[in-house]
Amino acid sequence: MRWYDVVMQSILLGAAGALECTPSVIQAALPSNASVNFAYRVKANETFQVPQGDTGYPTNPTALPSLCAVSVQVQSIGNTTYGFGLFLPDDWNGRFLAVGNGGFAGGINWLDMAPGSRYGFATMSTDTGHNSSSSDGTWAANQPDKVENWGHLALHGSTVNAKLVTASYYESDISYNYYSGCSTGGRQGLKEAEAYPDDFDGILAGAPAWWTSHLQPWTVKVALYNLPSTASYHIPFSLFSAIGAEVLKQCDPQDGLVDNIISDPIGCNFRPEELLCGANVTDSTAAGCLTSPQISTLYKIYTDSIGENQTFLFPHLYPGSEGQWFLLSGDSPNPLGTHYVQYFLGLGGNWSFYDFNEDIQRLADELQPGNATVGYDLSAYHAKGGKILSYHGMSDGLIPTGTLPWFYNNVDRTLTPRGIDVDSFFRFFLVPGMGHCSGTTSSFNAPWYFAGANQSPVLGNSVYGVPGFRDEKHDALLALVAWVENATAPDAVIGTKYVNDATHDAVQRQRPLCMYPKVAKYKGEGDVDAADSWECKGLY
Ligand SMILES: *[C@@H]1O[C@H](CO)[C@@H](O)[C@H](O)[C@H]1NC(C)=O
Ligand SMILES: *[C@@H]1O[C@H](CO)[C@@H](O)[C@H](O)[C@H]1NC(C)=O
Ligand SMILES: *[C@@H]1O[C@H](CO)[C@@H](O)[C@H](O)[C@H]1NC(C)=O
Ligand SMILES: *[C@@H]1O[C@H](CO)[C@@H](O)[C@H](O)[C@H]1NC(C)=O
Ligand SMILES: *[C@@H]1O[C@H](CO)[C@@H](O)[C@H](O)[C@H]1NC(C)=O
Ligand SMILES: *[C@@H]1O[C@H](CO)[C@@H](O)[C@H](O)[C@H]1NC(C)=O
Ligand SMILES: *[C@@H]1O[C@H](CO)[C@@H](O)[C@H](O)[C@H]1NC(C)=O
Ligand SMILES: *[C@@H]1O[C@H](CO)[C@@H](O)[C@H](O)[C@H]1NC(C)=O
Ligand SMILES: *[C@@H]1O[C@H](CO)[C@@H](O)[C@H](O)[C@H]1NC(C)=O
Repeated sequence: MRWYDVVMQSILLGAAGALECTPSVIQAALPSNASVNFAYRVKANETFQVPQGDTGYPTNPTALPSLCAVSVQVQSIGNTTYGFGLFLPDDWNGRFLAVGNGGFAGGINWLDMAPGSRYGFATMSTDTGHNSSSSDGTWAANQPDKVENWGHLALHGSTVNAKLVTASYYESDISYNYYSGCSTGGRQGLKEAEAYPDDFDGILAGAPAWWTSHLQPWTVKVALYNLPSTASYHIPFSLFSAIGAEVLKQCDPQDGLVDNIISDPIGCNFRPEELLCGANVTDSTAAGCLTSPQISTLYKIYTDSIGENQTFLFPHLYPGSEGQWFLLSGDSPNPLGTHYVQYFLGLGGNWSFYDFNEDIQRLADELQPGNATVGYDLSAYHAKGGKILSYHGMSDGLIPTGTLPWFYNNVDRTLTPRGIDVDSFFRFFLVPGMGHCSGTTSSFNAPWYFAGANQSPVLGNSVYGVPGFRDEKHDALLALVAWVENATAPDAVIGTKYVNDATHDAVQRQRPLCMYPKVAKYKGEGDVDAADSWECKGLY
């Protein structure tokens, strides 16, 4: 060690020894409109007890590194408040990380903070200003201030305050600021880039629910394609797997390699008529085939939502998403759609989803509750030097995969004419066979894991990063860090599939996930399950 390394280390050790984790020390870092709920030490390998009432995220994170756990309440607009949680690990890497929420939830996401603290980030999550499960929007009734907190105010304000606490606690400036979130969390990240460009240097945004004013009404509309369940055109849940199997049969070879993974769902020329029942079938559900009216429903599901005057309203679900058709099963639309119309748009709890029409869409466009929808002008974030790495699963059944290319292409159309090279600060990749934010069906066994937002807890309680592959080639968060700090822009992130999705088991497959508009192509020789048998190529 050189002499200054020795000095630096002793200073750091000295500082670490002095880290004081008490409410009064944390309070001293905060403005008067923010007050500490608690601050206490968690020892190495301990479990953090999530406080009572955190409806959105009740799961206790386990196997934590030694850290200071903090909770703060902040006064917001009107008569509202929001809270945030902060894990300050003793073994700090000098950086700050905020993690996102999901759906309409309601709560500090302590579980997703845990992986961040294992890397060494000071890691924060906001409760967005209310307690609720992810599909419960009743709290929004006549509460525009709360909706504004959920839309953008709570994450921004929590970030500003948590950074103050972090710098004061470690008695050091934060080197870089990051964000990681999926679904609503992805939307929160893109909203930050648009509205609060100074908050983060790098943003990891998975399956972003960025088009709130269209996604939520579409959630009602897509369900109505398959309702009421007594209609002749209704496709029962039990037939979804037969549809998925036929899609796989037709679309897997069409992408150029038979490997049980649909890599080019948009290029697949799917013919639903292969599923038609024969003349001798009396019970189509039992026979696993579809009637002509049911085939019509399939066409609607796989077709973009178009409004009056050929206005594009929303992209369709990709073929290959059938294993996640939660929005299409049951007797009513998902509350993520219905509650939005009832409580965010103000039509009230008695509004019936059967009254859905395009006026609802127009109302959403006009009201933009909470200003939650993200706009296309990300020029301020580009000007500040920020970086966005985004991704979306091709088998996502909750948010259509096409929403991300649509967003990116519109950012492109907004910024390229102004001389801004979008790829220089905003890149994204689509993940063949991955569902909403994480996971894959057993018929695909697609390599879906890359330490994206919300992914680590799926593999296990103490997981962070990509076990066995802790580098920026396999770990999307580290790829973002390398891009921000070393200017190494990623061309691909390698996805990993562990056998049984358990990290102590072997690696089943790895494959590059290429930055749009490139796609991964098999080189024609070598193990198809090895990443280096693949290359990123242009679509055409
Ligand atoms: C952490 O705790 C678990 C369960 O309490 C225990 O099995 C494990 O050995 C501990 N690990 C370390 C590194 O102390
Ligand atoms: C809270 O206090 C800070 C510092 O005085 C101020 O910048 C911020 O606007 C305040 N927030 C609210 C919601 O009043
Ligand atoms: C503010 O909220 C508190 C707690 O919910 C409530 O008691 C009080 O009446 C509210 N004040 C106003 C002006 O709405
Ligand atoms: C959520 O509930 C807990 C426990 O009841 C409470 O302490 C907290 O203030 C609530 N958060 C919000 C934003 O209402
Ligand atoms: C919504 O956000 C955009 C982008 O930050 C901003 O320009 C606009 O003024 C906001 N509108 C409202 C009503 O807050
Ligand atoms: C029903 O018809 C199809 C062809 O239309 C035939 O393949 C199948 O064997 C028939 N099934 C029965 C039970 O007769
Ligand atoms: C569709 O076009 C007609 C005729 O130009 C216009 O009156 C109407 O407002 C348009 N509707 C929408 C939703 O733009
Ligand atoms: C909803 O309908 C019920 C029954 O008709 C009625 O009693 C209630 O007042 C209605 N609620 C609202 C908010 O309109
Ligand atoms: C940046 O590059 C240097 C030299 O290759 C390397 O040692 C360092 O780990 C990199 N840092 C990050 C954050 O990727």
